[in-house]
Amino acid sequence: MSGVRAVITGTGSYAPSRVMTNDDFAAYLETNDSWIRERTGIRERRIAAEEESTSDLAVMASTKALAAAGLSPSDLDGILLATATPDILFPSTACLVQARLGASRAFAFDLNAVCSGFVYGLTVAKSMVESGAASKLLVVGSEVMSRSLDWSDRGTAILFGDGAGAVVVEASSVARRGLETFRVRADGRYWEMIHVPGGGARKTGEPPTIRMKGGETFKMAVRQLQESVEEVLAASGVSASEISLLVPHQANIRIIEALSARLGLPAEKVMVNIDRYGNTSAASIPVALDEAVRAGRVREGERVLLTAFGAGVTWGSGLLTWEADLQKRSRA
Ligand code: COA
Repeated sequence: MSGVRAVITGTGSYAPSRVMTNDDFAAYLETNDSWIRERTGIRERRIAAEEESTSDLAVMASTKALAAAGLSPSDLDGILLATATPDILFPSTACLVQARLGASRAFAFDLNAVCSGFVYGLTVAKSMVESGAASKLLVVGSEVMSRSLDWSDRGTAILFGDGAGAVVVEASSVARRGLETFRVRADGRYWEMIHVPGGGARKTGEPPTIRMKGGETFKMAVRQLQESVEEVLAASGVSASEISLLVPHQANIRIIEALSARLGLPAEKVMVNIDRYGNTSAASIPVALDEAVRAGRVREGERVLLTAFGAGVTWGSGLLTWEADLQKRSRA
């Protein structure tokens, strides 16, 4: 293989302006703010406006990521968009985003691994860049989960929110590590653990809203996330103490805390924004990564670990070194 590496050169995110608090749920459901905060870590989440959909959120996040990378849409070779809540069944939301951005040279496709979608997307992007199939890609996670909720189910409605995050991935001959080790997995035997029973081709007679076995999901998420990060660290020959920032999927603060404790990572090395967004599925990691980068919590040359678990069930982790400046300087 060539010495080309894949590096992230820009990040962006977008969240709809409408905030829904825990008290807004308590006004009509048998729940309350302290239960939701203590059991999940969520204080509020964003909800898309009536006229907003997944592609709108994605375009906003993508525009910011391209600006951060210093590229224009016509530079892109491809768009990979991770979502479980596409605008319409087909064509892909990625194609709608391609048209809106004017990314005329880019191929475009959606990828559905639900909450693990962004880590899956980066895994594919890394492979395409390293193989020479593409040199500039946009990887997006965008979700309007609020359209897939049963608003009368307190066990799921309170957990999810809407948002989008995007990164630009480029081929680099100067990066030392870039997107270093990525591993993704699935176990479809557990498909019923979190699923949307209706809305697809199978005639189920069921509604297109999320069903989840919360307790089982929680336990499996803790176990698989731990195994997954340990697998990636071992494959890279890197110890947890060398990680500058863990950016985990934001599903439940207790899952994040269990994982951080296992890795021996103090709070300042763990990115948490679940309090403001809830679980935004495929958007969760790119939104958290973008906020971390813009807050100066990711510095050049530092190692970042991403990890996700979601419906499928799917899970995966990725280790990267932040080398955006090095790559951008090499372009000049
Ligand atoms: N407000 C108040 N009570 C609630 C509630 C709510 N919003 N949601 C559930 N409860 C109740 C349950 O009905 C149950 O009551 P019961 O004992 O009378 O039956 C009680 O709280 C405890 O439920 P349990 O499921 O054991 O709570 P929990 O501590 O496991 O927390 C979740 C529930 C959903 C927050 C938690 O299981 C979770 O986060 N699971 C993982 C979710 C996840 O990660 N999903 C996406 C993966 S990508």
